[in-house]
Amino acid sequence: MELEEIYKEVILEHYQNPRNYGEIPYAHSSEGINPLCKVDGENPICGDAIYIQFLVEDDKLEDIKFTGVGCAISQASASIMTELVKGKSIEDIRSLIIRFKRIMEGKEDFTEDLGDLLAFEGIRRLPVRIKCVLLAWEVLLEGINKISKRAGG
Ligand code: FES
Repeated sequence: MELEEIYKEVILEHYQNPRNYGEIPYAHSSEGINPLCKVDGENPICGDAIYIQFLVEDDKLEDIKFTGVGCAISQASASIMTELVKGKSIEDIRSLIIRFKRIMEGKEDFTEDLGDLLAFEGIRRLPVRIKCVLLAWEVLLEGINKISKRAGG
């Protein structure tokens, strides 16, 4: 199978079986855990949207879930993103988002350590679809910027 075909299958598989899809079950509990951060964003070109909830404890992203309406690329990218960021520190997540945005903008190259994100390599040739790939990443960046501000960082 051609590499491009494999990558198409990776995207389709995440779209059909999105990881970390839904809502965090303790979102509405009144327990003394840190408040959830809820953030959403829209692709201005098509109106598709991603909603993200995440929970940070001790500067680490303990849990993350997403829902959304959109094309296979945007939903698959959100699914892969949640897998990659879960359990990481906020600063590591910020670095990953900034790096991945630079990669999609053609300012840096893809590297093997990016795992399933390699599936998006060919999409750099399709400028309109780059926004689809980056939608969830922009939304999460907004969310972590919000909590950094809240913490005075
Ligand atoms: Fe709307 Fe891809 S076409 S996010």
